[in-house]
Amino acid sequence: MNSSDFADPRRPRRLRRTEALRTLVRESTLAPSDLVYPLFVQHGQGLRTEIASMPGQARLTTDLLPSEVERVARLGIQAVLLFGLPRSKDETGSENFASDGIVQQAVKTAKDAVPEMLVATDVCMCSYTVAGHCGLLDRDGHILNDESLSLLARTAVSHAEAGADLVAPSGMLDGMVHALRTGLDEAGFDFTGILSYAVKYASSFYGPFREAADGAPRHGDRKTYQMDPANLAEALKEVALDIEQGADMVMVKPAMAFLDVVHAVKQAFPAAPLAAYNVSGEYAMLKATAKAGWISERDAVLELLLCIKRAGADVIISYHAPDVAAWLSE
Ligand code: PBG
Repeated sequence: MNSSDFADPRRPRRLRRTEALRTLVRESTLAPSDLVYPLFVQHGQGLRTEIASMPGQARLTTDLLPSEVERVARLGIQAVLLFGLPRSKDETGSENFASDGIVQQAVKTAKDAVPEMLVATDVCMCSYTVAGHCGLLDRDGHILNDESLSLLARTAVSHAEAGADLVAPSGMLDGMVHALRTGLDEAGFDFTGILSYAVKYASSFYGPFREAADGAPRHGDRKTYQMDPANLAEALKEVALDIEQGADMVMVKPAMAFLDVVHAVKQAFPAAPLAAYNVSGEYAMLKATAKAGWISERDAVLELLLCIKRAGADVIISYHAPDVAAWLSE
């Protein structure tokens, strides 16, 4: 028997022969305009506080924000997502809806620096309250779902007043999108969009973020509001409810271990722009393996983000966004 006995005229490899052919038939692409870059802002002056578990990421004071926003804009990134660290925490997280709160200041500063930059804000309580949960708690430590909604709506309105283009409720409370939409519309912000963290799992991959945003729960975990990683059908229910309530865009979070969820949501709701959050733990894992010399950070990150697009995401929120934008333009 010689090798030609096996000859088969069907040869998928034909289309892989040269880079030009591979590019011609490529099904998914990644561009800087797909990316949203998260930024952590803190009170003070001239402070860049490195986040140990997220090498390369830092909390910035607002005076350092213009140069950072200008830097990422030059790389082709069109959107940032702001997380704030309040001056102090209290029971209701009152800085969340203070007109001179850290996020409100940061939105104005970012918009002044680069007016065309899309500025999205995280709307949640965990970094602002003493308890560190995503809603208010009763005496027994149970989430007061409906009592929390008006404070979240107030927060969204104050972010809109500061100039936010999109508000992103991340607390996984029932009815949060309806509350925000109603609050925004009543305040005249009918053009402020809602990017809902519709499908957010109770994931261990948020560890580094909780250091960055100082938002770990003081007691307990988030399993009564964030989703069980075992569930997929429930994700479709969450997205359906949020779209019904007026979400303009929806999100699946985390990304890497949840690409089946990204895919299913895109299939079921093709008209809803879909974001996937490539979270802090995913970033930290890649940084650590690259630092050990066990993986090419550039190649692995470009592959991962492209795969998130292939799964069905339209938008990727990633701490690697500036690196990716730079690598894409090499
Ligand atoms: C707060 C919030 C979290 C993240 C975004 N918003 C943490 C959490 O829910 O515990 C995680 C982001 C990341 O890990 O990169 N509700």
